[in-house]
Amino acid sequence: MSIRIDVAIIPAELPEQWFSGKAVAVIDVLRASTSMVAALEAGAKEIIPLASIEEATKLAETMGRETVVLCGERDGNKINGFDLGNSPLEFTPENVKGKSLLMATTNGTVAMSRAKGAALIVVGCLINARALIPVLTKASDEIVLLCSGKQGRVSLEDLLCAGYLTKLIKTQCPKAELNDSARVARDVYEKHKSHLTKAVKGSDHGSYLAGLGYLTDIEYATQPDASSTVPVMRDGRIVSCQAGDPR
Ligand code: MLT
Repeated sequence: MSIRIDVAIIPAELPEQWFSGKAVAVIDVLRASTSMVAALEAGAKEIIPLASIEEATKLAETMGRETVVLCGERDGNKINGFDLGNSPLEFTPENVKGKSLLMATTNGTVAMSRAKGAALIVVGCLINARALIPVLTKASDEIVLLCSGKQGRVSLEDLLCAGYLTKLIKTQCPKAELNDSARVARDVYEKHKSHLTKAVKGSDHGSYLAGLGYLTDIEYATQPDASSTVPVMRDGRIVSCQAGDPR
């Protein structure tokens, strides 16, 4: 059976049961996915994505507040009482090495909880795009690229990432079948591939974050294939995928 690629341009495009048994990449370029890659590269032990601030603070108490790092954002800024916000540049070895991170963000961590029935969940963004391909294509013939979007609406940066991933999979598997959202994503990527940083700076969330002073986050997040780290979900915890062992 040839590979099938389904893109969800917004999370609600595909019902939760659609993910069952499939290999899913959850994409949040600005910034949850990018920050998770940065955190694991900085030596974080694991990241536990939570769908709400309440869930995160409750779990921190259960695990022992002093043993975990609470991180996340609302309206792009650090949540009161949390240790870190959601800028990938905050996830340094000093801040996260050997630590368990409890992360709550507006869109990315919520989308991750939506994909919970999948056979495999990996964290996708532009900086680790190429590294995802062998892990996804090895895990299943049915691949879903789930864009986290922005409060239920389309986000250009996630669409561009889904387009790039579609192109990379199609290059490896020319017979791969696409849904219309995958075709749209691929075409939008082809239009903007030569100026990704400029395109993302102009996006709804990109221009908002730039306005808050997070321009360097956008430059960091729009360097395709700068990382070979593949974060994978195991029992509700995101850890680094060891080469050749996605499960
Ligand atoms: C999100 O999940 O919505 C984003 O990661 C938000 C952000 O970091 O600005």
